[in-house]
Amino acid sequence: MARRILIAVLATMIVGMFALAAAQIPEGKEVLKFETKMGTVTFEHAKHSGFEGVECATCHHTYEGEGLPQACSECHAKKATEKAPKLQKAVHDTCWSCHQKHADAGEKHGPVKGAKNCKQCHVKG
Ligand code: HEC
Ligand code: HEC
Ligand code: HEC
Ligand code: HEC
Repeated sequence: MARRILIAVLATMIVGMFALAAAQIPEGKEVLKFETKMGTVTFEHAKHSGFEGVECATCHHTYEGEGLPQACSECHAKKATEKAPKLQKAVHDTCWSCHQKHADAGEKHGPVKGAKNCKQCHVKG
């Protein structure tokens, strides 16, 4: 009897965990590669999403938790529009501001803004 209750409780917990689970990085999108004129940028998407205090919406700022977030390029185009800054600026600002925050706190961080740092992200093959 006790065992059956235990199993029922466990089953409920497991179902609950799946129901509450936040959005997951889709398969194949764990690492994103951006082919740019300045070389390839390799972005550890899944690793970044696992950092403490980071949620999907930390970067996907218009994401409200329904389904999957949209790509930045859905709204941020190659060229700035009246509504949204261009993709390059939107992405750079997102990456640089967080890295700078960690650098200022004396923590491990990624490449920050600066002419000397471009190559830390943009790698020519
Ligand atoms: C933290 C990583 C990072 C650093 C540092 C960085 N970039 Fe980028 N950059 C990216 C990513 C990611 C993209 C892709 C976004 C996009 O498609 O526009 C990008 C896109 C670009 C683009 C648009 C490329 C294209 O072919 O459309 C240019 C130009 C660029 N970066 C220049 C620079 C310069 C100049 C620097 C140094 C001052 C720099 N980047 C530093 C990550 C970085
Ligand atoms: C540190 C920043 C960051 C975090 C955190 C993050 N993403 Fe992303 N994500 C990006 C960037 C940058 C792109 C590339 C967008 C583009 O190419 O326009 C992207 C692309 C995507 C795409 C691809 C869209 C497409 O159509 O190709 C999906 C889906 C996605 N992210 C889901 C998620 C989910 C789910 C989470 C939370 C578990 C998450 N992301 C967390 C930065 C992030
Ligand atoms: C549904 C449309 C939409 C999507 C998707 C979207 N953005 Fe934006 N974003 C906007 C609009 C509109 C603005 C300008 C108004 C504002 O600040 O909210 C903006 C502003 C920004 C800004 C502040 C402006 C600046 O120049 O610093 C950043 C940074 C940014 N977006 C980054 C991103 C990144 C990175 C992604 C993808 C991970 C993304 N956005 C996805 C619509 C979008
Ligand atoms: C919310 C904070 C945050 C955002 C946003 C962010 N990063 Fe990072 N990134 C970090 C931290 C923290 C580290 C240091 C991780 C470590 O060394 O363990 C890091 C490290 C990196 C590194 C060094 C190699 C690695 O993967 O550890 C690269 C390259 C990098 N980030 C690229 C990017 C790019 C490109 C973007 C924007 C698309 C971005 N990051 C956005 C927090 C962030």
